[in-house]
Amino acid sequence: MDYEKFYSDNAKKMRSSEIRELLELSQQPDVISFAGGLPNPDTFPLHQINEIVSMILENEGSKALQYGPTPGLKEFRKQLADFIGKDGIDVSMDDILITSGSQQALDIVGKIFINEGDVIITGLPTYLGGINAFLAYRAKLIGIPLDDNGMRVDLLEEKINEIEKEGKKVKLIYTIPTFQNPAGVEMSEDRRKRMLEIAKEHDILILEDDPYGKLRFEGNAIKPIKAFDNNEQVIYMATFSKILSPGLRLAYVAAPTEIAKKMMIAKQSMDLCTSTFTQLIAYYYIKYGYIDKQIPKIIEMYRKKRDIMLSALEKFFPPGCKWTQPRGGMFLWVELPEYINTVEMFPEAVSSKVAYINGRAFYVNGDGYNTMRLNFTNARDDEIEEGIKRLADVIKRRIK
Ligand SMILES: Cc1ncc(COP(=O)(O)O)c(C=O)c1O
Repeated sequence: MDYEKFYSDNAKKMRSSEIRELLELSQQPDVISFAGGLPNPDTFPLHQINEIVSMILENEGSKALQYGPTPGLKEFRKQLADFIGKDGIDVSMDDILITSGSQQALDIVGKIFINEGDVIITGLPTYLGGINAFLAYRAKLIGIPLDDNGMRVDLLEEKINEIEKEGKKVKLIYTIPTFQNPAGVEMSEDRRKRMLEIAKEHDILILEDDPYGKLRFEGNAIKPIKAFDNNEQVIYMATFSKILSPGLRLAYVAAPTEIAKKMMIAKQSMDLCTSTFTQLIAYYYIKYGYIDKQIPKIIEMYRKKRDIMLSALEKFFPPGCKWTQPRGGMFLWVELPEYINTVEMFPEAVSSKVAYINGRAFYVNGDGYNTMRLNFTNARDDEIEEGIKRLADVIKRRIK
């Protein structure tokens, strides 16, 4: 049977994530993989979660295993408002929506804001899961290049003016300002403030995605864009995936109250509520102060891995290659000479038992052929240098 005619116009625009398919290839035995975006499983606090789960089942079992309110458990939302309050974000419980991963929040944003052809601005490169979520609602995505200080806000303004001259409007700017996925870069405070001004001048919403902000290895914290927002223009989202466990599928949004309500209504028809059980696990994890001890441990492990990868790149990669020096997060970004195509090179890398993600997947304009994303958090310390050496050998064979 031909099912194609049954699919909605939106479904026809859906793409499977290129990354998920490549990940399958990189999971062969002996392949050292820098491909996935996985946290290191050694960071999962099994002992504390075991203790919390037993306690919940004993004391609050019937609540934990029941449906909960769509926006999330009250005590958890209140706690999260305080949690992000420490980062300078001043919101009340009513502005917080708990979601089943921030990927769900991206989908909800697509659902409530995007009509076919609506213009969304993203980084160039940007998170593939964001690209796919917005394309499913038939957005027109326009990328703005990044440099070591994040999105080039000068180019952002130029592009918005250009779009407006053509009689169109930008609806949303999607940005990952802190330790960006995939590039690892951090947007400066000046640029954050300037982005907000531009959004205000041109009446645009900002979607700030912040999964990595707590994973800072060095340097002073820069406040989230949401912390500077006095015009209720920023929708902020963060997740427990990288500071506790992605398997819990737990994230949260802090949005202007009216938008939080609209998002909640959209969520009702998606999954009624996020798992009450996992919300309670995270709630007690924060309440008992475990998270404050856990985050520094993750940082220490990841900082070491980043350092090993940076030294190996310095030691083995041939001249003509450039990479970012992330001050936090999970990724670094490599640019090879322009004539090297990382999509074509991938099978050779896998034959040499090393994997990466080709950078083109993160470009909304189809560029990025000579780039790649390397994850430094998942491989074992002793594998990182060997993996980079193997990758360097593959690249050297292509250097002219
Ligand atoms: C920038 C960004 N946004 C969203 C997500 C999705 O995270 P979650 O596990 O909360 O759905 C990720 C995961 O890697 C990410 O890197």
